[in-house]
Amino acid sequence: MNPQEQIAELTDRLNFYNYQYYQNSSSEVDDFTFDKLLEELSALERQYPEWARPDSPTHRVGGTISKEFATVYHRFPMLSLGNTYSEAELAEFDVRVQKGLNGASYEYICELKFDGVALSLTYENGILTRGVTRGDGVRGDDITANVRTIRTLPLKVNGSNVPPLFEVRGEGFLPLAEFERINREREDIGEPLLANPRNAASGTFKQQDSGAVAKRRLDCYLYSFLSEPEIFQTHEESLLVMKKWGLNVSPTWRKCGSFQEVMAFINEWETRRFELPLATDGIVIKINRYDQQRELGYTAKSPRWAIAFKYKALAASTVLNSVSYQVGRTGAVTPVANLTPVLLAGTVVKRASLHNSNEIQRLGVMLNDTVFVEKGGEIIPKITGVDLSKRTDASKPIDYPSLCPACQTPLIRKEGEAHFYCPNEKGCPPQLQARFEHFIQRRAMNIESLGEGKIELLIDRGLVHSPADLYELTVEKLLGLEKVYKDVETGKTRVVSLREKSVENILTAIDRSKTQPFSNVLFALGIRYVGNTIAEKLTDYFGNIDALRAASYETLVSVPEVGDRIAQSVVAWFADSDNQVFIERLRLAGLQLVTDRVAVEKKGETLVGKTFLYTGTFVNFSREELENEIEAHGGKVLSGISKKLNYLIVGENPGPSKVEKATKMAVTMIGEDEFLAMLSS
Ligand code: IVH
Repeated sequence: MNPQEQIAELTDRLNFYNYQYYQNSSSEVDDFTFDKLLEELSALERQYPEWARPDSPTHRVGGTISKEFATVYHRFPMLSLGNTYSEAELAEFDVRVQKGLNGASYEYICELKFDGVALSLTYENGILTRGVTRGDGVRGDDITANVRTIRTLPLKVNGSNVPPLFEVRGEGFLPLAEFERINREREDIGEPLLANPRNAASGTFKQQDSGAVAKRRLDCYLYSFLSEPEIFQTHEESLLVMKKWGLNVSPTWRKCGSFQEVMAFINEWETRRFELPLATDGIVIKINRYDQQRELGYTAKSPRWAIAFKYKALAASTVLNSVSYQVGRTGAVTPVANLTPVLLAGTVVKRASLHNSNEIQRLGVMLNDTVFVEKGGEIIPKITGVDLSKRTDASKPIDYPSLCPACQTPLIRKEGEAHFYCPNEKGCPPQLQARFEHFIQRRAMNIESLGEGKIELLIDRGLVHSPADLYELTVEKLLGLEKVYKDVETGKTRVVSLREKSVENILTAIDRSKTQPFSNVLFALGIRYVGNTIAEKLTDYFGNIDALRAASYETLVSVPEVGDRIAQSVVAWFADSDNQVFIERLRLAGLQLVTDRVAVEKKGETLVGKTFLYTGTFVNFSREELENEIEAHGGKVLSGISKKLNYLIVGENPGPSKVEKATKMAVTMIGEDEFLAMLSS
């Protein structure tokens, strides 16, 4: 096979695997093989950019960095929907439809109203060529590179009678599970949490670096099809054919022949919608036949043939009894409202987040106030307001503490941050406990048999002060330890006691943790902003703890994905003598402080602070060797042309689009010889 055929074969094969996986939930190959094939294709495409296909799965991993999005006009304006919260108004809509159709019979298609970001996607000759946000309805942002990262969206549709040009519209969203995963990761590194899946999705779609977008697994449900001339008679037909062509249509829609059936659908999904993998906020009701849609027509803003029925945000009112203050691993203090228990969306709510002191001020909430609690897209209920009509003399201002509620150290507020912090990192018990919990979690040292109150017990008995102490525990120290806990909320007592079996489990898990790879150990250390991914990047670059410890700020910022804030945090962490002792103790205990992955060997510092990208082929290096060479001399390889790029290294047969873009952005272009000269200068 020649390279062109090889590229075509790999593209088709990987697209087929993707389709099977995302549309039919069937795995044709294991992840490892898939990644290997993808890498192979990517390498071939870099070498022969002229043969790369527009539906190549390599587009899904991102890489394009756009300075700003181009504004593009929609072929057909993106309208909004009239909406209502009441059955009576919905019945009025139905009457208007009846009249508008002069008494002819009609059917509705009911769909869930997905709570995300409206997208318009254009396919030309079956290939996804454009993805645009709704914008103002007339013009939106061209976010093609970002929508290509959505795995369920076919880059090429296969089917019979596919028109040469068509557009599909749908809702881009962040699945709830993904939203929670991102927030867990953010919590790990002390980043503020994303408020809700909708904002998170909208923020992600507007990111300029599509590589970063690809890491958040966005998804999309399609709900309309547009082409000229129209090829379907009904909306139902369009949904069925879209599905058949591999376009992702949510299976939740239903054809309803009467207003009663519509109401039954609405009532059924009021609770069932919480079983779905994404946030929804209502139902969209559409006339099925296209000729009837045309007959009903449009108002200035929205169609007369469709309406949205929105569910009322689930809210309840209850009394704010007290505020507790929780101290997290990074020392951030979070106020939590303790409420008189109230039923909301089928669960009893006793606590709600108050976020920070600004939020308390914004709400103007006082103790003993009657407050409104809502469960929106967020997982944790929140207080949305105060029922002032019920305020009495019993209402008292909330005294925000000036001392840490756990260790009485004066709290501090850092410039530009909404949270107060307890600076007593080393002695504050909840910070200490959270640090242990971070250390033992599965993605770090995986000593989870120490969960459920056992760590608390060990800290309480003074057996451990630092995670390094875990490696000095023995049967004698542990056997027979016991503590009775009283749950403040329920008043129930719980006994944690260490008998032979659990002691054995704990010690085995601690021993086994010594084989956890270096990147896990690095993550376990709990350096602020060093989450799992960054720990891996640092591992790939430095290979061992000593090289990392010796790294300067300048070297650190040259590591892929490491920015100013992470670099500063790493330098400060290693400068602390207690942390140096900590590492030496972990070394003595036999933890992995060296990776067995092959690291790029350091060769010099001539490229420190410089960023590179390359195009074409080279005489002295394969592409991989070139990347290694750049990194070995302290340089950084970027994934696309942006204003951060210093040099484009141009080899033989360079990609014309890269060269053109670099010229436009005035990026310095150098040849292989100049690059060699830079290495040795
Ligand atoms: S159809 C003419 N169907 O709701 C408007 N929209 O308020 C056609 N949405 O901008 C829209 N789920 O972002 C339609 N199943 C669904 C929907 C849906 C969510 C959003 C969409 C639109 C907004 C209108």
